[in-house]
Amino acid sequence: MQAQPHSSLPTQPHRLMPITERPAEVFVRGDGAWLWDAAGRRYLDWLQGWAVNALGHCPPQLARALQAQAGLLLTPSPALYNLPSLQLAERLCAASGMHQAFFGSTGAEANECAIKLARKWGRLHRAGAAEIITFENGFHGRNLATMAASGKPGWDELFPPRMPGFAKARLNDLASVRALLSERSVAVMLEPVQGEAGVRPATREFLQALRALCDEHGLLLIFDEVQTGCGRLGQLFGFQHFGVTPDILTLGKGLGGGVPISAVLAQAHACVFQHGDQGGTYAGNPLMAAASLAVMEEIGRPEFLAGVRARGEQLRQGLLAFSARHGLGEVRGEGLLMALELGSDCAAAVVREARQQGLLLNAARPHCLRFMPRLNSSVEEIALGLELLEAAWQAQAATAAPLN
Ligand SMILES: Cc1ncc(COP(=O)(O)O)c(C=O)c1O
Repeated sequence: MQAQPHSSLPTQPHRLMPITERPAEVFVRGDGAWLWDAAGRRYLDWLQGWAVNALGHCPPQLARALQAQAGLLLTPSPALYNLPSLQLAERLCAASGMHQAFFGSTGAEANECAIKLARKWGRLHRAGAAEIITFENGFHGRNLATMAASGKPGWDELFPPRMPGFAKARLNDLASVRALLSERSVAVMLEPVQGEAGVRPATREFLQALRALCDEHGLLLIFDEVQTGCGRLGQLFGFQHFGVTPDILTLGKGLGGGVPISAVLAQAHACVFQHGDQGGTYAGNPLMAAASLAVMEEIGRPEFLAGVRARGEQLRQGLLAFSARHGLGEVRGEGLLMALELGSDCAAAVVREARQQGLLLNAARPHCLRFMPRLNSSVEEIALGLELLEAAWQAQAATAAPLN
């Protein structure tokens, strides 16, 4: 079905705060792999809400779950139990081997909660130690604590005073972690694959060594799996891909498949919250929990995860061939979270041309493209995306070529 052009769109200039650069198109409808703008143009969407729409846009099972729950119970109160949140906590703990869950709405909120949990644990078990070792180029969210935990270049300067308590090590460099250890340390926190940094994976050896280091020194290991969790790497949780189990795990994005829900899961020894330590008006609200149950039902199937791995391999092979054809750089990532180094700062231009060709892409860095298709992508969709990328590259190269 073609979307009809909308006659009632707000005129420019609009009244949204200017938080980021956006293209002029206004998007009005999504279905599976596809997004439509208000002019009726269709785009193959490899942003998928920033690795959020695990099952694509508006998947029917998610829509059905939302409709059913919307007619039953929306928000009883975070101070009352509701069935979907109890069921979701049970399901996530059973699947991950964790002991308890807390639900929030965003990844930043889940990470902030993990930080609080670690600080509380430090007060109880490490004589008040509260410093968390995090990583250069890491990304944990945009509230004040998670900005301080992040290692995004330039963020130290924003919104002073900066929240103290986060020392920065380098990914895949155990000596840089060791050098920061002190009696103040309480935890090490990282993304198993740094997503916003341009899909930079930790090595299995590094994560195993970190686990051993944390055990040796009595520290908690926290994995931020807001981007890598919920099937994105081809396993239900990223930690399963690496064979390293954290003490605390955070989830977001794909957990709701397009609706805002996030989670903190913790092993029994790290479950130290008492009444009053944590909360939130929408914490574990049944509408989002019911949606997440529908998404997890689908993602948790072994055949589904095998599909993610197969399409991930198809994408990797396609990107390797594309890179070889044009003399570009490294292809990195796992499952359906991939990046391609372009060798020059032309990623924004490629993204622009790709949009013209009908493909939505992300420039994670000026020199690097990131690919986040829906997890249930078909063989044909991956092939089409690669074709559109080729067309975008050629158009970009033609524009960039000097006239003679
Ligand atoms: C690894 C990671 N952690 C945390 C966040 C923040 O999540 P949210 O934007 O839902 O607060 C993101 C968002 O991109 C992320 O990739």
